[in-house]
Amino acid sequence: MHYKQHIATLPPYKPPKLIRQQPAGVVKLSSNENPLGPSPRALAALHEAATQVHRYPDAGSVALREGIAARFGLPPEMVLCTNGSDEMVFLLALAFLREGDQAVMAHGSFISYYLRTIEMGGQPVRVPLRNFTHDLSAMAGAVTDRTRLLFLCNPNNPTGTTNTAAEIRQLLAEVPDDVLIVADEAYIEFVERTDYPDLLAKLRNGRENLILLRTFAKIYGLAGLRLGYAFGHPTVMNYLERARPTFNVNALAQAAGLAALADEAHVVRSRAHANACRAQFMNELHALDLAPIASETNFIAAHVGDDMAVTAALMEAGFTVTPLSGWGIPGYIRISFGTDAENARFFGALRQILQR
Ligand SMILES: Cc1ncc(COP(=O)(O)O)c(C=O)c1O
Repeated sequence: MHYKQHIATLPPYKPPKLIRQQPAGVVKLSSNENPLGPSPRALAALHEAATQVHRYPDAGSVALREGIAARFGLPPEMVLCTNGSDEMVFLLALAFLREGDQAVMAHGSFISYYLRTIEMGGQPVRVPLRNFTHDLSAMAGAVTDRTRLLFLCNPNNPTGTTNTAAEIRQLLAEVPDDVLIVADEAYIEFVERTDYPDLLAKLRNGRENLILLRTFAKIYGLAGLRLGYAFGHPTVMNYLERARPTFNVNALAQAAGLAALADEAHVVRSRAHANACRAQFMNELHALDLAPIASETNFIAAHVGDDMAVTAALMEAGFTVTPLSGWGIPGYIRISFGTDAENARFFGALRQILQR
């Protein structure tokens, strides 16, 4: 068989062993999910759609696409729905990277950018974070005539940090027009900072080399359904549309996504919960001297020393978190916010572990 070398040598996706073996009853604080669950309206739509699963889904996700377009005041040609936003990362790599082409990204960010680039025979150019934040001037400086994509995770997973509107304005000015800037905004709904950039406005003004990635997996609480969407210039979206599998978004996801979008009260509740958790986690983690990184998301990273050992001890105590040494941020763990009761139990366990 003629295996492609750059795929054969990729590390297979393997959640950390401790998380993989997660027994029932363990509290999962490792995937930045919504602890309040999905919107009841999404669940109702899901039940109804389930009676029709002998039918193929709408290949164009038309109702959902139009619903998203109307919600954000864009024409449907500027919206594309995918099997999780992760699929869009894959499609971007597929559609824009030829062998040897470069994609610029941060070292210490969402791993898919790196993996999908390699998979296409591309060359990831990883730029170190500065103060746990994307160093946009260094990233702009890393662009060469081989660069096709520039990934910007804002807010950044796993640090929860954001780049400001002014920083991004500068990046947009510096990056050449033929490099597509991919702004992954998976956590945008949690952001409170007022200096956060409005990149949709840039798209509305006709910007072509910019695409925004969004997801139903985080604030909407539909991670298991796999549903993402993206905003971009009609020319870019039309191009990507040709690359996607015909039935990439399943029927249940389409129905539930549309219903979730209409349930603003659930979004407001989920945002309020995350924001309250953020304040609580900052206080608790500071009190434990764990140098938490100020976050704009539904998770927070903190310095625990031996991140692998603390993760293992937390697992023993019934909690999964994400150790960050594998992400290039050694010594830190990433903790997703749980329910109030889960968080209280978590801090009880963490305190005990740190006292040992
Ligand atoms: C920054 C970022 N982008 C994309 C994703 C993938 O989201 P989805 O579940 O929509 O594929 C995640 C999931 O953790 C993420 O953190």
